[in-house]
Amino acid sequence: MNPVIRPRRLRTTAAMRALVREVRVAPSQLVLPVFIRDGISEPVAIASLPGVVQHTPESLRREAVKVVEAGLGGIMLFGVPTDADKDPLGSAGADPEGILNRGLRAVRDEVGDATVIMADTCLDEFTDHGHCGVLDKAGRVDNDATLDAYVRLAVAQADAGAHVVAPSGMMDGQVAALRAGLDDAGHTDVAILAYSAKYASAFYGPFREAVGSSLEGNRRAYQQDPANRREGLRETILDLAEGADMVMVKPAMAYLDVLADVAAASDVPVAAYQVSGEYAMIHAAAQRGWLDLDATMAETVTSIVRAGADIVLTYAALDLAARR
Ligand code: PBG
Repeated sequence: MNPVIRPRRLRTTAAMRALVREVRVAPSQLVLPVFIRDGISEPVAIASLPGVVQHTPESLRREAVKVVEAGLGGIMLFGVPTDADKDPLGSAGADPEGILNRGLRAVRDEVGDATVIMADTCLDEFTDHGHCGVLDKAGRVDNDATLDAYVRLAVAQADAGAHVVAPSGMMDGQVAALRAGLDDAGHTDVAILAYSAKYASAFYGPFREAVGSSLEGNRRAYQQDPANRREGLRETILDLAEGADMVMVKPAMAYLDVLADVAAASDVPVAAYQVSGEYAMIHAAAQRGWLDLDATMAETVTSIVRAGADIVLTYAALDLAARR
């Protein structure tokens, strides 16, 4: 036994391994999701997302500076209104004085164009029933009425300084509606990051704590069935036709097959979202000493890039950038 071909030659030293590495994760392709909460005077820790907090406007400004200093690609804002500001229509989302729009203005004022400022364009944070859209008389999410609400949201977010709006509600036609609405309002340069293949996932659990969601029931009538791979491609092709500037697959790690499909078919940049539950389970295992936190986080994000993501949204973005 004397093999002529020895793949191990390329693994002999750290320098050799670095030379032949196929995938490198750069801070500039990472986006940090953040939460801004109304009615608090100090940042509030989120128990199920270790290291992540609900920010005040002041602490969010400081976080945005860290994002720029770390060279991250972007920051994605989610708003957490007071319960008193929630209503069936999610009106606080489009209110210029609503918490998310105040957060966007604060971040844009603090860092300008030094990173890409993104806004979650969805109603669930702002509705008292917790659904991503407005309800019809039967209590179902009304697709087309929701599109009008999304346009008001997106225009308010663009007015507040968002470079990118990110519709995450999985309504049919949402990308086309936003494009038309933004253009009508003069925001032709504001880009749309479409949550194209977004699955009805159990991995969103900690996020619901983070935004204080009051959802009863589930989102299976609008988010995708985890069993459906081909449908992820169908949704993506529709969003591309509607004018999406970037497309996203979410969650990431349990959907790498979908991500690879989307990356092969897309002619625009592809993002993937390592969601709250993916982050939380790695932290939980690490707290027990069962996994190495940094190594596991780096490996999962590398896998997401390897599968085809150009951009990764992860709560570990600053940690990953600091470890380099
Ligand atoms: C909807 C939205 C959700 C997440 C991002 N945007 C929640 C949901 O769809 O139920 C989840 C993100 C995460 O789990 O980290 N606005």
